[in-house]
Amino acid sequence: MISKSSAPGKVILFGEHFVVYGVKAVLCAINKRVFVTAETIDEEKIIIESNIGNLRLGKNRNISEIDSPLKPFYFLADKLLKEQSKALGAKISIRSEIPVGVGLGSSSACCVAGAGAISGLFSKKTKDEVLDLAIDAERTIFKDTSGADCTVSAHGGIMTYDKTGFTRIGSEPDFQLVISNSNIEHSTEKVVREVQRFKDQNQGEFAGLCSKESELVKDVLEIFKEEEEEESKKITKLGEKVIQNQKFLETIGVSNGTLRKMVEIGNKTSFGSKITGAGSGGCVFSLTNEKNTEETLNEFKDKNYECFSTEIDSQGLDTF
Ligand code: MEV
Repeated sequence: MISKSSAPGKVILFGEHFVVYGVKAVLCAINKRVFVTAETIDEEKIIIESNIGNLRLGKNRNISEIDSPLKPFYFLADKLLKEQSKALGAKISIRSEIPVGVGLGSSSACCVAGAGAISGLFSKKTKDEVLDLAIDAERTIFKDTSGADCTVSAHGGIMTYDKTGFTRIGSEPDFQLVISNSNIEHSTEKVVREVQRFKDQNQGEFAGLCSKESELVKDVLEIFKEEEEEESKKITKLGEKVIQNQKFLETIGVSNGTLRKMVEIGNKTSFGSKITGAGSGGCVFSLTNEKNTEETLNEFKDKNYECFSTEIDSQGLDTF
Protein backbone atom coordinates (compact mmCIF):
# COMPACT_ATOMS: atom_id res chain seq x y z
CA MET A 1 0.00 0.00 0.00
CA ILE A 2 1.29 3.48 -0.93
CA SER A 3 -0.14 6.84 0.14
CA LYS A 4 1.02 10.33 -0.87
CA SER A 5 0.38 13.81 0.53
CA SER A 6 1.73 17.30 0.17
CA ALA A 7 1.33 20.44 2.27
CA PRO A 8 2.41 24.08 1.86
CA GLY A 9 4.75 26.30 3.84
CA LYS A 10 3.56 29.58 5.27
CA VAL A 11 4.27 33.20 6.02
CA ILE A 12 3.00 34.84 9.19
CA LEU A 13 1.76 38.22 8.00
CA PHE A 14 1.01 39.58 11.48
CA GLY A 15 1.16 38.35 15.07
CA GLU A 16 3.99 35.81 15.42
CA HIS A 17 5.11 35.34 19.04
CA PHE A 18 2.10 37.30 20.34
CA VAL A 19 -0.07 34.38 19.13
CA VAL A 20 1.64 32.17 21.74
CA TYR A 21 0.07 34.48 24.37
CA GLY A 22 -3.45 34.44 22.95
CA VAL A 23 -3.31 37.27 20.38
CA LYS A 24 -4.82 36.58 16.93
CA ALA A 25 -2.27 36.11 14.16
CA VAL A 26 -2.81 36.45 10.40
CA LEU A 27 -1.17 33.73 8.34
CA CYS A 28 -0.91 32.89 4.69
CA ALA A 29 -0.05 29.54 3.05
CA ILE A 30 2.50 29.91 0.21
CA ASN A 31 3.07 28.01 -2.99
CA LYS A 32 6.10 26.01 -1.82
CA ARG A 33 5.38 22.45 -0.67
CA VAL A 34 6.62 19.36 1.13
CA PHE A 35 5.77 16.03 -0.57
CA VAL A 36 5.61 12.83 1.48
CA THR A 37 5.22 9.27 0.20
CA ALA A 38 4.46 6.54 2.74
CA GLU A 39 4.33 2.83 2.12
CA THR A 40 3.72 -0.19 4.33
CA ILE A 41 6.50 -2.79 4.44
CA ASP A 42 6.58 -6.31 5.89
CA GLU A 43 9.72 -5.67 7.93
CA GLU A 44 8.66 -4.24 11.31
CA LYS A 45 10.83 -1.14 10.95
CA ILE A 46 10.29 2.57 10.38
CA ILE A 47 12.51 3.84 7.57
CA ILE A 48 12.61 7.57 6.78
CA GLU A 49 14.50 9.03 3.82
CA SER A 50 14.98 12.74 3.14
CA ASN A 51 17.54 15.20 1.82
CA ILE A 52 18.32 16.28 5.40
CA GLY A 53 19.18 12.71 6.47
CA ASN A 54 17.78 9.23 6.99
CA LEU A 55 16.42 7.32 9.98
CA ARG A 56 15.98 3.55 10.33
CA LEU A 57 14.60 2.33 13.64
CA GLY A 58 12.53 -0.48 15.13
CA LYS A 59 9.04 0.28 16.40
CA ASN A 60 8.10 1.28 19.98
CA ARG A 61 11.11 3.47 20.63
CA ASN A 62 10.87 6.14 23.30
CA ILE A 63 10.32 9.41 21.38
CA SER A 64 12.32 11.50 23.84
CA GLU A 65 15.41 9.39 23.10
CA ILE A 66 15.33 10.06 19.35
CA ASP A 67 17.67 12.87 18.41
CA SER A 68 16.71 13.72 14.84
CA PRO A 69 14.73 16.43 13.05
CA LEU A 70 12.85 13.51 11.46
CA LYS A 71 11.38 12.59 14.85
CA PRO A 72 7.81 13.78 13.99
CA PHE A 73 7.66 11.26 11.13
CA TYR A 74 8.78 8.46 13.44
CA PHE A 75 6.16 9.54 16.00
CA LEU A 76 3.39 9.46 13.38
CA ALA A 77 4.41 6.12 11.86
CA ASP A 78 4.89 4.43 15.24
CA LYS A 79 1.57 5.76 16.59
CA LEU A 80 -0.44 4.72 13.53
CA LEU A 81 1.29 1.34 13.09
CA LYS A 82 0.52 0.47 16.73
CA GLU A 83 -3.19 0.96 16.04
CA GLN A 84 -3.14 -1.76 13.32
CA SER A 85 -3.98 -5.40 13.98
CA LYS A 86 -1.37 -6.62 11.43
CA ALA A 87 2.35 -6.41 12.27
CA LEU A 88 3.80 -4.03 9.66
CA GLY A 89 6.50 -1.42 9.18
CA ALA A 90 6.56 1.79 7.14
CA LYS A 91 8.88 3.48 4.68
CA ILE A 92 8.55 7.25 4.34
CA SER A 93 10.19 9.47 1.71
CA ILE A 94 10.22 13.26 1.92
CA ARG A 95 10.90 15.84 -0.76
CA SER A 96 10.70 19.53 0.03
CA GLU A 97 10.65 22.83 -1.84
CA ILE A 98 10.61 24.83 1.43
CA PRO A 99 13.93 26.12 2.82
CA VAL A 100 14.53 24.56 6.26
CA GLY A 101 14.77 26.44 9.56
CA VAL A 102 14.09 29.93 8.21
CA GLY A 103 10.53 30.64 9.35
CA LEU A 104 8.63 29.42 6.30
CA GLY A 105 6.88 26.57 8.10
CA SER A 106 8.96 23.72 6.72
CA SER A 107 8.63 21.53 9.82
CA SER A 108 4.88 22.18 10.16
CA ALA A 109 4.35 21.35 6.48
CA CYS A 110 6.34 18.13 7.10
CA CYS A 111 4.06 17.26 10.02
CA VAL A 112 0.90 17.94 8.00
CA ALA A 113 2.04 16.11 4.85
CA GLY A 114 3.49 13.30 7.02
CA ALA A 115 0.23 12.92 8.97
CA GLY A 116 -1.74 12.94 5.70
CA ALA A 117 0.42 10.36 3.94
CA ILE A 118 0.96 7.98 6.87
CA SER A 119 -2.67 8.02 8.09
CA GLY A 120 -3.77 7.57 4.47
CA LEU A 121 -2.16 4.11 4.51
CA PHE A 122 -4.85 2.89 6.87
CA SER A 123 -7.95 5.09 6.66
CA LYS A 124 -9.41 8.23 5.13
CA LYS A 125 -9.21 11.11 7.59
CA THR A 126 -10.67 14.62 7.46
CA LYS A 127 -8.32 17.64 7.25
CA ASP A 128 -9.09 18.41 10.89
CA GLU A 129 -8.18 14.86 11.99
CA VAL A 130 -4.93 15.06 10.02
CA LEU A 131 -4.27 18.48 11.59
CA ASP A 132 -4.70 17.11 15.14
CA LEU A 133 -2.18 14.36 14.36
CA ALA A 134 0.20 16.90 12.80
CA ILE A 135 0.12 19.21 15.84
CA ASP A 136 0.83 16.22 18.15
CA ALA A 137 3.79 15.35 15.88
CA GLU A 138 5.04 18.95 15.92
CA ARG A 139 4.97 18.91 19.73
CA THR A 140 7.70 16.21 19.67
CA ILE A 141 10.13 18.90 18.46
CA PHE A 142 8.47 22.07 19.76
CA LYS A 143 6.35 21.44 22.84
CA ASP A 144 4.84 24.93 23.12
CA THR A 145 3.75 25.42 19.51
CA SER A 146 0.65 27.58 19.16
CA GLY A 147 -0.51 25.25 16.35
CA ALA A 148 -0.76 28.22 13.96
CA ASP A 149 1.72 26.96 11.38
CA CYS A 150 0.22 23.45 11.06
CA THR A 151 -3.29 24.93 10.84
CA VAL A 152 -2.54 27.20 7.88
CA SER A 153 -0.57 24.43 6.17
CA ALA A 154 -3.50 22.00 6.49
CA HIS A 155 -6.22 24.43 5.41
CA GLY A 156 -4.36 26.82 3.07
CA GLY A 157 -5.34 30.40 2.14
CA ILE A 158 -5.16 33.41 4.44
CA MET A 159 -6.54 33.00 7.94
CA THR A 160 -6.69 34.46 11.39
CA TYR A 161 -5.62 32.05 14.09
CA ASP A 162 -5.63 31.93 17.84
CA LYS A 163 -5.63 28.96 20.17
CA THR A 164 -9.45 28.78 20.02
CA GLY A 165 -9.38 28.15 16.26
CA PHE A 166 -9.06 29.73 12.85
CA THR A 167 -11.16 31.74 10.40
CA ARG A 168 -10.41 31.75 6.67
CA ILE A 169 -10.33 35.26 5.21
CA GLY A 170 -12.55 35.07 2.15
CA SER A 171 -11.75 38.45 0.64
CA GLU A 172 -8.14 37.73 -0.24
CA PRO A 173 -6.54 41.07 -1.11
CA ASP A 174 -4.59 41.35 -4.32
CA PHE A 175 -1.00 41.30 -3.09
CA GLN A 176 2.27 39.51 -3.69
CA LEU A 177 5.09 38.77 -1.30
CA VAL A 178 8.80 38.96 -1.89
CA ILE A 179 10.58 36.66 0.53
CA SER A 180 14.24 37.20 1.27
CA ASN A 181 16.32 34.75 3.25
CA SER A 182 18.98 35.79 5.79
CA ASN A 183 20.23 32.18 5.58
CA ILE A 184 20.64 32.33 9.35
CA GLU A 185 18.97 29.16 10.66
CA HIS A 186 17.04 29.53 13.88
CA SER A 187 15.36 27.26 16.37
CA THR A 188 11.75 28.38 16.83
CA GLU A 189 11.68 26.74 20.25
CA LYS A 190 14.76 28.67 21.39
CA VAL A 191 13.48 32.04 20.12
CA VAL A 192 10.06 31.45 21.74
CA ARG A 193 11.88 30.74 25.03
CA GLU A 194 13.83 34.01 24.68
CA VAL A 195 10.59 35.93 24.16
CA GLN A 196 9.18 34.23 27.25
CA ARG A 197 12.21 35.55 29.17
CA PHE A 198 11.57 39.06 27.79
CA LYS A 199 7.92 38.77 28.88
CA ASP A 200 8.86 37.60 32.40
CA GLN A 201 11.31 40.47 32.83
CA ASN A 202 9.05 43.16 31.28
CA GLN A 203 5.54 42.08 32.22
CA GLY A 204 3.83 45.49 31.90
CA GLU A 205 5.52 46.35 28.62
CA PHE A 206 4.75 42.93 27.15
CA ALA A 207 1.07 43.17 28.12
CA GLY A 208 0.96 46.60 26.44
CA LEU A 209 2.52 45.18 23.27
CA CYS A 210 -0.01 42.32 23.21
CA SER A 211 -2.87 44.88 23.32
CA LYS A 212 -1.24 46.95 20.58
CA GLU A 213 -0.75 43.84 18.43
CA SER A 214 -4.42 42.87 18.94
CA GLU A 215 -5.49 46.36 17.84
CA LEU A 216 -3.21 46.15 14.83
CA VAL A 217 -4.69 42.80 13.78
CA LYS A 218 -8.23 44.22 14.20
CA ASP A 219 -7.27 47.12 11.90
CA VAL A 220 -5.82 44.67 9.36
CA LEU A 221 -9.06 42.69 9.30
CA GLU A 222 -11.00 45.92 8.72
CA ILE A 223 -8.69 46.77 5.80
CA PHE A 224 -9.26 43.30 4.31
CA LYS A 225 -13.03 43.85 4.55
CA GLU A 226 -13.18 47.33 2.97
CA GLU A 227 -15.09 46.91 -0.26
CA GLU A 228 -15.22 50.49 -1.39
CA GLU A 229 -11.50 51.10 -1.01
CA GLU A 230 -9.25 50.95 -4.10
CA GLU A 231 -6.77 48.04 -4.03
CA SER A 232 -3.81 50.45 -4.18
CA LYS A 233 -5.01 52.28 -1.06
CA LYS A 234 -5.69 49.00 0.75
CA ILE A 235 -2.19 47.68 0.11
CA THR A 236 -0.63 50.98 1.22
CA LYS A 237 -2.57 50.76 4.50
CA LEU A 238 -1.58 47.11 4.96
CA GLY A 239 2.07 48.06 4.35
CA GLU A 240 1.87 50.60 7.18
CA LYS A 241 0.64 47.82 9.50
CA VAL A 242 3.52 45.57 8.39
CA ILE A 243 6.01 48.32 9.29
CA GLN A 244 4.29 48.85 12.66
CA ASN A 245 4.33 45.11 13.44
CA GLN A 246 8.06 44.97 12.70
CA LYS A 247 8.60 47.62 15.41
CA PHE A 248 6.87 45.37 17.97
CA LEU A 249 9.10 42.46 16.93
CA GLU A 250 12.16 44.69 17.33
CA THR A 251 10.99 45.57 20.87
CA ILE A 252 10.65 41.93 21.98
CA GLY A 253 14.18 41.21 20.75
CA VAL A 254 13.71 38.84 17.81
CA SER A 255 15.44 41.07 15.28
CA ASN A 256 19.15 41.61 14.66
CA GLY A 257 21.48 43.68 12.46
CA THR A 258 21.10 41.47 9.39
CA LEU A 259 17.30 41.39 9.59
CA ARG A 260 17.11 45.16 10.19
CA LYS A 261 19.21 45.71 7.07
CA MET A 262 16.93 43.43 5.04
CA VAL A 263 13.82 45.23 6.31
CA GLU A 264 15.43 48.52 5.28
CA ILE A 265 16.20 47.18 1.78
CA GLY A 266 12.62 45.88 1.39
CA ASN A 267 11.08 49.12 2.63
CA LYS A 268 12.77 51.08 -0.18
CA THR A 269 10.48 49.73 -2.89
CA SER A 270 7.74 47.62 -1.24
CA PHE A 271 4.73 48.71 0.81
CA GLY A 272 6.32 47.34 3.99
CA SER A 273 8.68 44.61 5.20
CA LYS A 274 8.94 42.56 8.35
CA ILE A 275 10.37 39.41 9.84
CA THR A 276 8.13 36.40 9.41
CA GLY A 277 8.03 33.50 11.88
CA ALA A 278 10.26 33.21 14.92
CA GLY A 279 12.93 35.72 13.83
CA SER A 280 16.54 35.92 15.10
CA GLY A 281 17.37 34.72 11.59
CA GLY A 282 15.14 33.24 8.94
CA CYS A 283 13.21 35.31 6.43
CA VAL A 284 11.82 38.78 5.87
CA PHE A 285 8.81 39.35 3.65
CA SER A 286 8.03 42.49 1.68
CA LEU A 287 4.46 43.29 0.71
CA THR A 288 4.23 44.09 -3.01
CA ASN A 289 1.89 44.04 -5.99
CA GLU A 290 2.50 43.74 -9.75
CA LYS A 291 3.94 47.28 -9.78
CA ASN A 292 6.87 46.74 -7.40
CA THR A 293 7.53 42.98 -7.10
CA GLU A 294 10.31 42.92 -9.72
CA GLU A 295 11.88 46.09 -8.40
CA THR A 296 11.88 44.70 -4.83
CA LEU A 297 13.35 41.37 -5.95
CA ASN A 298 16.11 43.28 -7.76
CA GLU A 299 16.94 45.30 -4.63
CA PHE A 300 17.59 42.05 -2.74
CA LYS A 301 19.35 40.32 -5.66
CA ASP A 302 21.70 43.32 -6.06
CA LYS A 303 22.78 42.82 -2.45
CA ASN A 304 23.20 39.06 -3.00
CA TYR A 305 20.28 37.93 -0.87
CA GLU A 306 18.51 34.71 -1.80
CA CYS A 307 14.95 35.82 -2.59
CA PHE A 308 11.83 34.83 -4.48
CA SER A 309 8.28 36.06 -4.98
CA THR A 310 5.43 33.91 -3.84
CA GLU A 311 1.70 33.52 -4.17
CA ILE A 312 -1.01 32.35 -1.81
CA ASP A 313 -1.68 28.60 -1.76
CA SER A 314 -5.40 28.18 -1.31
CA GLN A 315 -5.48 24.37 -1.21
CA GLY A 316 -3.55 23.38 1.94
CA LEU A 317 -3.17 19.63 2.49
CA ASP A 318 -3.44 17.57 -0.66
CA THR A 319 -3.76 13.80 -0.37
CA PHE A 320 -3.47 11.70 -3.49
C1 MEV B 1 6.66 30.40 14.37
O1 MEV B 1 6.46 30.28 12.97
C2 MEV B 1 5.57 31.22 14.97
C3 MEV B 1 5.69 31.51 16.47
O2 MEV B 1 4.62 32.41 16.77
C4 MEV B 1 5.58 30.26 17.30
C5 MEV B 1 4.19 29.61 17.26
O3 MEV B 1 3.20 30.26 16.91
O4 MEV B 1 4.10 28.41 17.62
C6 MEV B 1 7.00 32.22 16.78
